[in-house]
Amino acid sequence: MKIKKSDIETVAVKPSQYPAPDRYEIAFAGRSNVGKSSLLNLLTGRKSLARVSGSPGKTRTINFYLINDDFRIVDLPGYGYAKVSKSESQKWGEMMEQYLENREKLLKVVQLVDIRHKPSAQDVQMYDYLKYYGLSGIVVATKADKVSRNEMQKQMKLIRQTLDMDKSDIIIPVSSLKRTGQDQLLDVIEELLNLAAEAEGGITEE
Ligand code: GTP
Ligand code: MG
Repeated sequence: MKIKKSDIETVAVKPSQYPAPDRYEIAFAGRSNVGKSSLLNLLTGRKSLARVSGSPGKTRTINFYLINDDFRIVDLPGYGYAKVSKSESQKWGEMMEQYLENREKLLKVVQLVDIRHKPSAQDVQMYDYLKYYGLSGIVVATKADKVSRNEMQKQMKLIRQTLDMDKSDIIIPVSSLKRTGQDQLLDVIEELLNLAAEAEGGITEE
């Protein structure tokens, strides 16, 4: 699949602000600064569709992007940002729960982890949570440009083990800097959309 068209549709902090649940959605979750917004820009081929920053905690809202006038990619606010207050992290939890637990057309949540590090306790917690809701199965290992080929294999194994991924779960190394890995992820997303459309008995639009 190629992304030919992408636009920010809605920025939300509560369900009443979400767009109507009339399209399939794929969301991105992960620690603050892991590269969610950069990945969105990579996939869409747009430099600054989503805001990227050196300072963590950039995305504090749920951002809905309409892709190819067909489905949505949803950039979720990052977790694990050290400087947030307790009330802010509570707000974050509520915001995530409200979205993840009730979104009818949400197909999967792509979990992003930094390829250089062993997934944190929060990463594991997030992945378990996604498993519970049937939203897990796709992991993107970000910043793949920061490791050698050898290290990459080693780290992918470590990530797989630490997140306790199923055999059928997939992990894709991606570099937003070197622009690698995006085609594989787009193929996976396309397959998800096709399967969902088939299951619904609908016709897939090209
Ligand atoms: P929040 O919005 O805070 O949740 O962060 P985010 O997950 O959206 O991360 P973002 O895309 O803003 O990227 C954070 C930092 O990592 C920025 O400085 C990016 O330039 C950098 N970064 C993102 N992806 C890559 C990558 O593939 N390689 C390298 N080397 N740096 C990257
Ligand atoms: Mg962001």
